[in-house]
Amino acid sequence: MTLLTFENIHKRFGGVAALGGVTGSVAEGEILGLVGPNGSGKSTLINVLSGFAEPNEGSITFADIDITATEAHHRFKEGISRTYQIPRPFTRMTVRENVAVSLIFGRANLPPSEAIERALHWLDFAGLAGHADLPISELNLHQLKYLELSRALASEPRVLFLDEVLAGLNPTEIEESILMIRRIHELGISLVIVEHVLRVVNALSTRIMALNQGLVIAEGVPADVMRDPEVVKAYLGSRWKHA
Ligand SMILES: Nc1ncnc2c1ncn2[C@@H]1O[C@H](COP(=O)(O)OP(=O)(O)O)[C@@H](O)[C@H]1O
Ligand SMILES: [Mg+2]
Repeated sequence: MTLLTFENIHKRFGGVAALGGVTGSVAEGEILGLVGPNGSGKSTLINVLSGFAEPNEGSITFADIDITATEAHHRFKEGISRTYQIPRPFTRMTVRENVAVSLIFGRANLPPSEAIERALHWLDFAGLAGHADLPISELNLHQLKYLELSRALASEPRVLFLDEVLAGLNPTEIEESILMIRRIHELGISLVIVEHVLRVVNALSTRIMALNQGLVIAEGVPADVMRDPEVVKAYLGSRWKHA
């Protein structure tokens, strides 16, 4: 079943067309890899689909309901969640309180006292239970990325956008994160992943959509998309990593 569809999405910043008419969908249970060189519009598409940026044109439906004009916090409550390329925790709260916020305002819709209890479950899922009562300033980048995941999961999403969760991690941490992404998928959550490390996108994705300059240039199973001449050309001379 198709969970999320987007049609002819345009997003302009001044004279720049970050998205120039992007159409696609996310099926229930799939892991869609979103790839493309820097500046190709991946984060902008995530922003538009999660409600953090308004498209200039186009429409979005989620579970057959038009959500084009639905605000981000309402989409969050309905099960659309995302992480940020650069972690954005609430810096004045503890680790556990950060996760509790998602349990209060997300699909779980818990009262604060229960949210604080339940937060531990999602911290444990991400291996952060031992850090629950620390201030955010005590976490390193790796832990902040895992906190982003815990917060996103605590909203009990149906679809989760992961924007470069592996960026800045060392090889061991990357392997650990891949296993965690698989565990998230096993929870029944549909995933859209943006990653620079080709090997990771290939290994995880059931389908790949390649963007270049705000347009879809290829779409299909990973092996085909990665061989596509337009995709290969788009990455030549870009900061793309083949590792
Ligand atoms: N808030 C913004 N204001 C102005 N330009 C932006 C903004 N966000 C993105 N852009 C521009 O839109 C294009 C796509 O950016 P982005 O979606 O971040 O690409 P990616 O995530 O694929 O690297 C780039 O040219 C970028 O500079
Ligand atoms: Mg980006």
